[in-house]
Amino acid sequence: MHINRKHSWQLPDSAVTPESQYLGRRKFLKAFGLGLAASVALPAVSRAATFGFPDSLNGGYSLAGVKLTSYNDVTGYNNFYEWGLDKGDPKVNANQGWKTEPWTIQIGGLCGKPGTYNVNDLVKTIGGIEQRNYRHRCVEAWSMVIPWDGFPLAKLVTMAEPKPEAKFLQFTSFLDPKNCPGQQSQDFPWPYTEGLTLAEATNELAFLATGIYGKPLLNQNGAPIRLVVPWKYGFKGAKSLMHIDFVANQPKTLWNGMAPNEYGFYANVNPEVDHPRWSQKTERVIGAGFFGGRQPTLKFNGYEKEVAALYTGLDLKKNF
Ligand code: MTE
Repeated sequence: MHINRKHSWQLPDSAVTPESQYLGRRKFLKAFGLGLAASVALPAVSRAATFGFPDSLNGGYSLAGVKLTSYNDVTGYNNFYEWGLDKGDPKVNANQGWKTEPWTIQIGGLCGKPGTYNVNDLVKTIGGIEQRNYRHRCVEAWSMVIPWDGFPLAKLVTMAEPKPEAKFLQFTSFLDPKNCPGQQSQDFPWPYTEGLTLAEATNELAFLATGIYGKPLLNQNGAPIRLVVPWKYGFKGAKSLMHIDFVANQPKTLWNGMAPNEYGFYANVNPEVDHPRWSQKTERVIGAGFFGGRQPTLKFNGYEKEVAALYTGLDLKKNF
């Protein structure tokens, strides 16, 4: 099927297409192929069993009656552009020796308690993990329901003691072009960055995930720690985080910087605001079959009650 892509970095119109060819891909894959050859020499990694914290479903987030997406689909159908542009690429390419254990994350910027943590120690300091079933809606108009393990972002914010001038959080994914050939491509301004207002970050739903289905996150899903913001399009959920910084001004984010007319800073799921190249009114449910599996998209991805108050007085069409 034909994909309309003016630039290699534009997300594909996968609402109606599979996910392969587009302009610029060859260039990207060339960098990728070269690096893959190099990465074969790296030792194979088996992720040590993680945290060992008790982990049970938080009943407030069970989504009773909603079918969970299979583990195979959640871990085999991914967007992680550092590791390739097709949905099956990250599963293969992020597991050729890329090491995500041990992992250090830095909490910094405008806060009273900055810190550098081994992720396992961070989880311990935060007080453990819990499981929440969340809807996951990609801007490309497909969706899943994922049982994440992790902890509320609000706990980390409280621990870091933000200064009064801190108004936003910036999230920065890993940067390792030596071991991640995709990051040798100039098509994206690596590292991947995202941001939230402080009010969004302290909303009860904002989550830092360390696992899926009770197992440690696999590399393709953003091991060992990634952001999950279920009322926003999936691209807000930066993977494999190395930095979380408290900042005074709206931070630069990768997709918004590359195509501000297509990917807003807020990126709240909204069936009333179409993407310039496709409708956001419905979504393809992954695992439910290509033709049988479309359903209406819900405002704020079904979390209107929990988050609408964050946007009182804001024109959601302008501030998409
Ligand atoms: N984070 C990084 N570092 N790189 C990416 O390419 N893709 C985003 C987001 N986080 C991305 C990322 C997009 S577009 C989506 S939809 C989700 O991750 C996909 O998460 P999943 O693969 O776990 O479903």
